[in-house]
Amino acid sequence: MIINLIDQADQSRFRLNQALLRARTARLLELLDQQEAAVSVVLLTDQEMARYNQTYRHKEGPTNVLSFPAELDSELGDILISVDTAWQEAGEKQISLHQHLTQLLIHGLLHLLGHDHEASEKQAEIMQDKETQLFQAIQHFHSGERIMPQLAVNVDHIATIRQARGGAEPDPVLAAGICELAGAKGIVVHLREDRRHIQERDVRLLRQTVKTRLNLEMAAVKEIVSIALEVVPDLVTLVPEKRQELTTEGGLDIIANEKKLRKTVSKMSEAGIPVSIFVDPDAEQIKAALDVGAAYVELHTGRYCDAKSQPEREREFHLLEQAAETAFASGLQVNAGHGLDYRTTARIAAIPVIGELSIGHAIIARAAFVGLDQAVREMQDCIDLAA
Ligand code: PXP
Repeated sequence: MIINLIDQADQSRFRLNQALLRARTARLLELLDQQEAAVSVVLLTDQEMARYNQTYRHKEGPTNVLSFPAELDSELGDILISVDTAWQEAGEKQISLHQHLTQLLIHGLLHLLGHDHEASEKQAEIMQDKETQLFQAIQHFHSGERIMPQLAVNVDHIATIRQARGGAEPDPVLAAGICELAGAKGIVVHLREDRRHIQERDVRLLRQTVKTRLNLEMAAVKEIVSIALEVVPDLVTLVPEKRQELTTEGGLDIIANEKKLRKTVSKMSEAGIPVSIFVDPDAEQIKAALDVGAAYVELHTGRYCDAKSQPEREREFHLLEQAAETAFASGLQVNAGHGLDYRTTARIAAIPVIGELSIGHAIIARAAFVGLDQAVREMQDCIDLAA
């Protein structure tokens, strides 16, 4: 099969996961018994789509998808999809952009294969059923090609155990090395103002020993900012911090702290340190993260993990999925974390635009029973299973 994917969508608004879309097209061709076919999928703007709609259908304005069957038997034809219209429709349907692009792709492919919902009510029904069936079959299909989210292990709670006795054991620096040997692609520590677990010594030593990526979680306060500027971690993640909380309780309110955050991000940028901001899955906060100059957001997965009922969990999952795509489409890199465990991680890892998962408590808790090496490997298995 030959798949020609041409991305002419507005690059300043959308960063599409081309590997995923190509892999889904290939899988759909297989499901439709079209292994030998050649198809072109062109992703374009409303403006371009309106031009095609006028020229070939004599209709004014854009539409979501158009199909042009090929003259040659060996080729299926071309599918044109307006990403601007798809984005708007995805919002109305409360589904993610990549899900809706998949639906439009299915619709376009079925047209190329001779289905026509305008021919009769019966035909419309048959086509609709086929679309639903294919969409269900494809939804959780991901490409081996796609970049899987990387596992970054937060070792704060190794330090929590050490601080319980005020001695030197267990050492989070050694723990970080074990996590890396077990396959973790990053190490995360939160240097809190009250120093309840991680100490300055840990951060400085980790800077020297971490072979993957060191992500320093921190509040945007003067003392910690100057430590970060000296240590130069690979990434800093700005989080809200309250003295009394057991753990970080929610995303940062970037809108309310805009001035302070812009200043912190700019200091970090001058020192060559990329900044991520921990946010709730909220479009306004994501836009604010971009406005203050962050390169990444880390989406707060806590409410999804703590959901008390299935409908609540579904609602929280969809918020996360949409927020991830909104952030990715606006040019931010997307990480996620907080509260993830061995049951909740796979579904988040399957969101195709998430680059890194930051996971601590569940891994350290399991390590007490099975060892740190195995606990990390088992979490990696959860991520791999999402592929
Ligand atoms: N991400 C952020 C921003 C956090 O504050 C924490 C907790 O330190 C985590 C991820 C990891 O959360 P957990 O320990 O629940 O996996």
